[in-house]
Amino acid sequence: MEFYVKSGHPEKQRSACIVFGVYEPRRLSAAGEQLDKISGGYISQLLRRGDMEGKQGQVLLLHQVPNINSDRVLLVGCGKERELSERQYRQVIKKMMITLNDTGSMEAVCYLTDLHVKGRDTYWRVRQAVEASSDALYLFNALKSKKEEPRRPVRKLGFSVPTRKDLACGEKAILHGTAISKGINICRDVANMPPNICNPVYLGEQAQALTQLSDLIEVQLFGEKELNELNMQSYLAVGRGSENESVMSVIEYKGSQYKGKKPLVLIGKGLTFDSGGISLKPGAGMDEMKYDMGGAAGVLGAMRALAEMDLPIHVIGILAGCENMPDGRAYRPGDVITTMSGQTVEVLNTDAEGRMVLCDVLTYVERYEPEAVIDTATLTGACVIALGHHASGLMSNHNPLAHDILNAGEQSGDRAWKMPLWDEYQEQIESPFADMSNIGGKAAGSITAAAFLSRFAKKYHWAHLDVAGTAWNSGANKGATGRPVSILTQYLLNKAGESRE
Ligand code: BES
Ligand code: MN
Ligand code: ZN
Repeated sequence: MEFYVKSGHPEKQRSACIVFGVYEPRRLSAAGEQLDKISGGYISQLLRRGDMEGKQGQVLLLHQVPNINSDRVLLVGCGKERELSERQYRQVIKKMMITLNDTGSMEAVCYLTDLHVKGRDTYWRVRQAVEASSDALYLFNALKSKKEEPRRPVRKLGFSVPTRKDLACGEKAILHGTAISKGINICRDVANMPPNICNPVYLGEQAQALTQLSDLIEVQLFGEKELNELNMQSYLAVGRGSENESVMSVIEYKGSQYKGKKPLVLIGKGLTFDSGGISLKPGAGMDEMKYDMGGAAGVLGAMRALAEMDLPIHVIGILAGCENMPDGRAYRPGDVITTMSGQTVEVLNTDAEGRMVLCDVLTYVERYEPEAVIDTATLTGACVIALGHHASGLMSNHNPLAHDILNAGEQSGDRAWKMPLWDEYQEQIESPFADMSNIGGKAAGSITAAAFLSRFAKKYHWAHLDVAGTAWNSGANKGATGRPVSILTQYLLNKAGESRE
């Protein structure tokens, strides 16, 4: 799928389909007015006749409209003009994309990017349009023996920008939107892949594949032998019950002028399957624990996005690949484990494994003297209880970093909400036998998990993004969402001084 921007009047376009918005009740958007005029009032007459109200979700496809050079005209309902929210805007774009794909227009020009969205500029509208269109087209059919694909899929889509002066920023929005969409797609593909295929080695292969896409990317894989040499005993303990080898993938992006710049580090929890281990999870819904590598998939996606953009930053992305299984060799409740940092942990629940893996990676990354470290993880069921499926949970030891991430979330539409990380919470993870225990009881489960991690992140600015509720959908819509690729990539864009908002 290829996107481009263009400025200019809709009546001059020659295309398989031309798309514009209709507000409720029966009010044409500016592009619609122009088309209506040269069609001699043909379109407004249809609206008056009651063919379309303009409610959100409505579409009307017209053929052979008088005096219009394009084969088709697609009207998309946008709801009330004053109320077009960011979310509705994305939904309007998605509706357009699904309709285009179903109706055989292999190419189209879209004026929905001219719609007014409060507080948002052309860059934002075009970028969101690219991301929403690409989202609408996503299909995971790699494992279907018979693949159903649209007969005439959309191949090329043009988005309108108001004037010629807006073309440059529109093009930047296309570049960024396309890069992020590719990152989101790889994130979703890898996360949706079943755990008998997507194991830690597979994650390593996906990381390695990025080196083919950009000369600025290098990858190093650490198997169990190397993890042992680094003394990452807590990470290794979690993987011990699995036949699948633990693999930590380190992806380094050295953008232009990276030298002398402290790196930004992204760490993703990569539990390719979390059975709970000896503290075995209940059977219902356990298949969804294949998504317990959603954090790693998000980091992989953000690094994939970087591969498409030439940003003057230095970024290290780490996929902490591992599988948590019950076995004769598995770690057990009661075990005391010495982490790479030297701090000891009493294991009270082997299902609190994410923090056991991440704590050693947090220690490992000290060697980079990072400017900031962000870990992202499907860490706690408690986060789903606290925030549901709309916001990721954010906790940090540095307020300015937390703000940067919250802002990136608002800009990208992949939002997070901050929770406290006060000292008081540390008391919940005290242990009589070790420096700490790996669980903190029922209360504030997401915060005590972050409190645990914070003990390993003392040497740098650090933030933790719990994506347990946002990385995938359950139920009828089951599948990976591609979060948190957008928020992470937006944070990196802002760091590179590339943000337009
Ligand atoms: N991967 C899970 C967290 C999870 C559960 C994410 C459900 C999304 C949906 C994590 O490893 C886990 O099992 N956490 C435990 C922690 C508890 C034992 C302190 C949990 O949330 O129940
Ligand atoms: Mn678990
Ligand atoms: Zn887990």
